[in-house]
Amino acid sequence: LFNHIQAAPADPILGLGEAFKAELRPEKINLGIGVYKDANGQTPIVQAVKEAEKRLLAKENTKNYLTIDGISEFNIHTQALLFGENAQVITQKRAKTAQSLGGTGALRIAAEFIKRHTTAQNVWISTPTWPNHNAIFNAVGITIKEYRYYNKETKSLDWNNLIADLAHAEKGDVVLLHGCCHNPTGIDPTPEQWETLAKMSAEKGWLPLFDFAYQGFANGLEEDAFGLRTFAKNHTELLVASSFSKNFGLYNERVGAFTLVAENENVANNAFSQVKSIIRVLYSNPSSHGASAVATVLADNELKANWIAELAEMRNRIKQMRAKFVELLKQKGATQNFDFIIEQNGMFSFSGLTPEQVDRLRDEFAIYAVRSGRINVAGITEANINALCDAIVKVL
Ligand code: LMR
Repeated sequence: LFNHIQAAPADPILGLGEAFKAELRPEKINLGIGVYKDANGQTPIVQAVKEAEKRLLAKENTKNYLTIDGISEFNIHTQALLFGENAQVITQKRAKTAQSLGGTGALRIAAEFIKRHTTAQNVWISTPTWPNHNAIFNAVGITIKEYRYYNKETKSLDWNNLIADLAHAEKGDVVLLHGCCHNPTGIDPTPEQWETLAKMSAEKGWLPLFDFAYQGFANGLEEDAFGLRTFAKNHTELLVASSFSKNFGLYNERVGAFTLVAENENVANNAFSQVKSIIRVLYSNPSSHGASAVATVLADNELKANWIAELAEMRNRIKQMRAKFVELLKQKGATQNFDFIIEQNGMFSFSGLTPEQVDRLRDEFAIYAVRSGRINVAGITEANINALCDAIVKVL
């Protein structure tokens, strides 16, 4: 029964992690998967999380199942982070949230929900995008349409073509938007552009789906939610897949959330009961540890303030590395202008390196990046930046 099965290609992002692990050259540098690294090249545990874990360990007295939608305090705090404390969608009880297995898990719930319970024919995805978006919607059999997002010449948002392409999105179509820190380009719409998109979406009757995996990594928790909150004000219905992998550093605990906003409380409750049926079939109910830690931090003013400060530290370190990277490339004689890297948001930079140049970086210098040219700026440290810039200048 199995003999005919062909090997699957390695995942373009997670496959890199496996290859990096197997790499024997000690000078190796990993700029692949989107994981934060500190100045020492470590992915630290957030101190506020460590403290929350101590408290949890002391008071936990059962390993009983969670409910299908997970920890209710976690879900309430998630909504406040997404929409703002006391936002209308919250006070009107139009938002319902289910704890999920990371942002990917939330996206998969969204895809199943869209397929089974809406009339959506198409999902519109930016080009480029995170490759798993295509895979997730292919898995449930929804037609994928693409809207242009990135202008290679100007290294900026391809706004006119984005609008031209989305003009073809029909009523009921899903439009997938990156809440902030667009993956892989690091380029986000301006506040005015978000407002234009939200208006266009409401007029046309699209179903917006926000992938919000990097809240806090562009400019701050509140600032980064501008796009989502602008849409929430304009729409009766929308979906959000959010993640705590990056901003809480809880990568391997798989903590995310699926949030549904409906026209009123009654509709939200009915739709959410279907979401719970979907989750029951996928994995029954989520695990407790990571989401308990998040809920503990967010419920405690001091821990929350510490977390926000740690998040700012991560964000600022990445920004500093962007500036240093660009400066050093110049110093080392790169003739291309890389100033655009300073403007990009979040962990990633769409460097403009070609797949062949990325291959050379790996083969000749043990530097790992995604073949699209995406590099994880958070992987750059004082210790590796010199060798990295030398290598890039050589392959350019
Ligand atoms: C990434 O894009 O590197 C991250 O979102 C990790 C992943 O799951 O791909």
